[in-house]
Amino acid sequence: MQYGYGKLILFGEHFVVYGLPGIASSIGLYTRCQLYPNKTGIKVRDRLTNKNIVLGENKQEILDRAMQIILKETGLGGKNFRLEIDGDIPVFGGLGSSAALIVSIIRELNEHYKLKLSNEQVNEIAFKAEHVFHGNPSGIDNTASTYRSLLWFEKNLSGGKNKIELLKCKKPLLVVIGNTKIIHDTVETVAEVKKKKEKEPKKFDKIFEDAKELVFQARNALEKGDLPKTGELINENQELLQEIGVSSPELDLLCKASVENGALGAKLTGAGMGGCMFALCPDKKTQEKVAQAIRKKGFDSYITSVGV
Ligand code: PMV
Repeated sequence: MQYGYGKLILFGEHFVVYGLPGIASSIGLYTRCQLYPNKTGIKVRDRLTNKNIVLGENKQEILDRAMQIILKETGLGGKNFRLEIDGDIPVFGGLGSSAALIVSIIRELNEHYKLKLSNEQVNEIAFKAEHVFHGNPSGIDNTASTYRSLLWFEKNLSGGKNKIELLKCKKPLLVVIGNTKIIHDTVETVAEVKKKKEKEPKKFDKIFEDAKELVFQARNALEKGDLPKTGELINENQELLQEIGVSSPELDLLCKASVENGALGAKLTGAGMGGCMFALCPDKKTQEKVAQAIRKKGFDSYITSVGV
């Protein structure tokens, strides 16, 4: 049984698609994959999305297409097996469930067939398979899922290796994740931003400049363990995301409720327009309070920590 972990983008979603830096971390929510023998062919059952595929029977099916890529890249075409997938990560919620799914599959195949893939190779294959789910992904999701760490990420727009640096926070970040339970479509949201950027280039150039500067400041604050500054920058990042039009009334409501209940900062995470947000808390007591405030509004919340 092998695991793939979900992720939280702390800073820079959407902007990373255009080569700007982002900071992300894996989280404790996961998908896990177990391989069983099968007489003929390949079957995959994904309990998280309730998808059941027999490989090749429906070539339009996303999971089928992702599996084809994984088999090609691992050289395992022609093998017979059955994969059972489950986990506790909400799907289509901005927590990187598709990347986690792919990473858990690649790791399970790696383990079972003794492929000796390095993290870098797992990540490269996962990135290729992520294209099926996300069209033009930055690669930040699969990278956070593969390396299971806090990291700095810059997409290489010329197609070469992306820049990945593992980071350490001076202090662990106590966060609460709030889930609006509104399913979002990453491909659509990324395409909307592109359209708006083309329509209003001047406005977007300025926002992108601010976003870039902000991520460098955030790295500094995280590495110094300056939580109040980190919180301030999280709020500023949320404002930039509002300006590019990817927040939603529910996300704004949960961010506001978090800050009113003592969070140092709160922002959406992932593609936005639904999905999840997170709040940075100064201590465990505030974490409980914020999680409760989110639940009181009728949404799900998860308490976790990142960056250690
Ligand atoms: O919502 P998710 O988990 O699909 O995250 C998308 C993050 C984006 O920056 C919006 C897109 C990307 O590929 O980085």
